[in-house]
Amino acid sequence: IGKQVISLPSCHSTNDLMAQLSAKKQLHEGAIIITEHQTKGKGQRGNQWNSPPGENLTFSVFLKPNFLLASQQFELNRIVSLSVLDVIKEFESSVKAYVKWPNDLIVNKKKIGGILIENSIHKGNIAESIIGIGFNVNQDSDLLVTATSLKNVFDKKFELEKVLLSVVEKIEHYYLIARSRDFKLLHQLYEEKLYLKDKVAFYEDSTGKFNGIIRKVSPEGVIEIEDEAENFRKY
Ligand code: BTN
Repeated sequence: IGKQVISLPSCHSTNDLMAQLSAKKQLHEGAIIITEHQTKGKGQRGNQWNSPPGENLTFSVFLKPNFLLASQQFELNRIVSLSVLDVIKEFESSVKAYVKWPNDLIVNKKKIGGILIENSIHKGNIAESIIGIGFNVNQDSDLLVTATSLKNVFDKKFELEKVLLSVVEKIEHYYLIARSRDFKLLHQLYEEKLYLKDKVAFYEDSTGKFNGIIRKVSPEGVIEIEDEAENFRKY
């Protein structure tokens, strides 16, 4: 991963650009597109992803995980979530970093990064995967009250390139674990990092609000929350 790197001062969205270049067959597996500034950054559920120019990491990684079935897409979320969490932990092992299902990265109850994975499926397998990562590194001002950054947490600035390299090395590490089919290990590690697991918390779904406890995430990425009536609600 990272033998082909396309680095741009600005683009709409590294995920979108990656999709365009992939359609033109211009990308090798492991290619990275990184930009200082996205003018149309995309978040989960059709949200925008805004990040001040030059302060944070906004990049995409191109993989061809054809050893994964479409039903195993969530393994990619696990791989990337664990990678970013490991990098945060490496700076300071005492820091508590979690993944809020499906893939918000949380430190001190605030979001430090997000992941947007866009897959294309061919004959039931994942042919191509565009893995978009937004990681708040040096941003200090204009953070949402619900957001944080490495700078905020550790009170120092980081070299973006070094942080990128660390994340990419971790992705490669966990990707190889997946390729060796050790999904059990990935599941176990993800579960250990799962935010609010086994803790009572307040949730809301289409039927209303309720108190519940996250119990597990299935191999396919379905989360199970036990409610007060001891029903397991699946999402
Ligand atoms: C989220 O938490 O909502 C996901 C955010 C993903 C943002 C990254 S930044 C690089 C890549 N390109 C995009 O347009 N989005 C992802």
